[in-house]
This record gives sequence, structure tokens and C-alpha cells, in this order.
Amino acid sequence: MAAEHRLRVGVVGCGYWGSKHVRVLCGLNEVAEVALIDGREARLSALSRAFPGVRSFRSLKDALPHIDAAVIATPPTTHVALALEAMAAGKHVLIEKPLATSTFAAQRLLHAAAASGVTLMVGHTFEYNAAVLRMRELVRSGELGEVFYLDSARLNLGLYQSDVNVIMDLAPHDVSVINCLLGKPPVAVQAWASRHAHHQFEDVAYLRLFYEDTDLSANIHVSWLDPCKVRRMTVVGSRKMAVYNDLAADEPIRIHDKGVTAQSAAADLGQPPMSYRYGDIVAPYVAFDEPLMVQDRHFADCVRTGAVPRTDGRNGLAVVQVLECAQWSLELGRRVSMDEVADDVTLRRTGGERRTLATGSALPPVQDLPLDDVWLEVPAQLVAQRE
Ligand SMILES: NC(=O)c1ccc[n+]([C@@H]2O[C@H](COP(=O)([O-])OP(=O)(O)OC[C@H]3O[C@@H](n4cnc5c(N)ncnc54)[C@H](O)[C@@H]3O)[C@@H](O)[C@H]2O)c1
Repeated sequence: MAAEHRLRVGVVGCGYWGSKHVRVLCGLNEVAEVALIDGREARLSALSRAFPGVRSFRSLKDALPHIDAAVIATPPTTHVALALEAMAAGKHVLIEKPLATSTFAAQRLLHAAAASGVTLMVGHTFEYNAAVLRMRELVRSGELGEVFYLDSARLNLGLYQSDVNVIMDLAPHDVSVINCLLGKPPVAVQAWASRHAHHQFEDVAYLRLFYEDTDLSANIHVSWLDPCKVRRMTVVGSRKMAVYNDLAADEPIRIHDKGVTAQSAAADLGQPPMSYRYGDIVAPYVAFDEPLMVQDRHFADCVRTGAVPRTDGRNGLAVVQVLECAQWSLELGRRVSMDEVADDVTLRRTGGERRTLATGSALPPVQDLPLDDVWLEVPAQLVAQRE
């Protein structure tokens, strides 16, 4: 590849996940240089030893003149401010999940990317996983029949995050996969969650996603407080059922040719007899390429060609809307519809100052907005109910 087409990419946040981006990006032909950006000197020096020759910077501001694109792999509540800073300087951005911690902030990112003419992509890594794409084929081709429901479990002991609850941390994966399989977002969400080991953030949560088609639903269980590591999604259809187990490297997908049908009822019986069908279990071969590698290469390609990423800003926004509905559902104790969070917001400072911003309105300077706190951005329709 011609040198002028190769990118200089800065990785902002060189912690657990950012260091994986650094490894992957250093191996891509499409990338000319990788820069390490982290406020903590210890992180920079540890990674510099592993990747000699890469430049390191203590802040995004210092790195901006030396990069074409930024991968934002910092804690979720810092994503928006950093991405806006990078885009204002004309840099392309790949933001780790979740894109933002509120719908309004995510919308601002989309506007800023359009205004700067840069690529905005979200790191929904599972959408670059060959097993997820195979599951999508199964669902979309009709092989499973009519989809009745999906069930997803993402459980483990830790890792507790410092700035968001388990819904914002783990559920972005489940929601992005479910949106990808079904090809449509839900219309409403209800969530239940509890705090156990953490005093501020929920560490166990259940989400139910509702669809226009009222016969379809999806359930998500996420937990930082479970003895077993589980990464499993089940899709139950009228003809077959499929289980995707991300921890089963050799057989990530199993298709069960099983089903249940209600026989036609005799006139004098209330409940018709059920008929069970047991058939083969098939594990299709899935060629594995590291999803993060596929994702980061796709980002570099999109920047180079101007193509719209598969997981673009709109894809990220659709996931954030579901997460925000879930947060509001916890607060209000009821089902929250997607329409309710896609509205103008009232911004409130801790001191009590308020102002209402319309969706798509001109962006105020970043430093004027309380980006660090999702609860300071209140969808106008929900303000009254919260008070
Ligand atoms: N796609 C995935 O599968 C996946 C997996 C794990 C984490 N993540 C995401 O990656 C992000 C980082 O998670 P993590 O577990 O690596 O966190 P981490 O705490 O291990 O690392 C975050 C790093 O960001 C640095 N940082 C914070 N603010 C900064 C700033 N303003 N400028 C420069 N550096 C700053 C911190 O010093 C730290 O080194 C999160 O958004 C998380 O949701 C994604």
C-alpha cells in the first residue's frame, strides 16, 4: 500500500482494551504509525516496552498534530468529550462501546462527525465476529423459522467498572448483537437491576426488549457478580433453535432441530396436547478471524475510501438509546419506549442551572457541558416524571 494512504492512529486510553487495539493496529498494513495516548505514565511506559518505536503522549491534545485518526478506549463517560475534541481537529474516530452514555450525547457526536466530514465508527466488536454473522444468516434466511424470542447471558465475576453500571458496561454487546441479528431495534425496554458488592452502580441486571411485532421479545442478563463465566445467546424459532456460545472456540454455534407445537384441540379439551420434535444438533464450521483485527482494519479501510462503516454512528446511537431506556426504566419502574429518549433534553448543572437544547441544535463548546454525568441530561418528556 502506498505510504500516503497508510494511517497514523492514536490510541487514547492504553488500559486493558486499548492495549489490545495497540497490538492489532501495530500489525495492520493499513496503519503507518501507532501513537499511545494515556494520562498515566505507567501505562505508557509498560506498552512502550512491548512496542518499541511507537510514540507516546500524555494527552490527546499533544498527540493531535501527529495523528490522522483516534481510537477512543477510555472509560465510557469520557468518550464524548475526547471524540468531539478529535473531530474538531479533523480526525477520524473509532469509539469503544458504548458510543456515549446518553442518547443526546450520541446525537451530538453524529452531528459533529457530519459537520467535520470525518469517519465516526463504534467498536461493536461482536458485529465483526464470524459466529455472529453466521447467526444472522440463520435468522435472516428463515432457517430457524419465525423467531419467537432471543435470550442472552453475559456473566462473570467482575470486572467492576469505575464510572458506569453493568448495563452500560456489558449490555452494549448484547444489544448490538441482537440489533444485528434482527436487523431492527426494539421499540421499548424494561429493566430490573440490583446493587450488591458496589455501593453506587448496579452489578446485576435484566433487560427485556420489546418489538413492534408483539410476539417477539429479547431478554438480556448481565452480571459482574456471578461465579461462572457465561457468554451465551439463544435464538428460539418456530422450526429450529440456535445457541451461540462465545466461549466454545471449536463449536461456537449449535443448531438444534427441535421444536414444540400445539396439536389442534378436541372440542371438549381446554389445553391442546403438545407435540415435541427432537432432531439433530448441527455445529456449522465457522472460520475464525480475530474480531478486533477485522474491526480495526475495517475502520482503516473506511477512513481511506470514505465508505460508511458497518457500525457507524447511527448503529452506535441505536444501542445507546436502548441503554438509556433501560436506565430510565430502572429509575421510573416501568417500560420506557425508544421515542421517549429521542427527544430534546434539559441540561442541568449540579448547581441547579438549567437550559433546554433541541436535538440537532448548534453544539455549545464542549467545556460548557456536563458530559461526565449521564443523569444531567434529561429527556424533556421524562423531566416531570423524575421529579
Ligand atoms: N469491545 C470490547 O469488547 C471491549 C472490551 C473491554 C472494554 N471495552 C471498552 O474499552 C474502554 C476502556 O475499557 P478498559 O477496560 O480498557 O478500561 P481501563 O480502565 O483498563 O483503561 C482506560 C484507560 O484510559 C485512560 N484514560 C482515562 N481518561 C483518559 C483521558 N482523558 N486521556 C487519556 N487517557 C485516559 C486511563 O488512564 C486508562 O489507562 C471502555 O469504553 C470499555 O467499555 C470494550
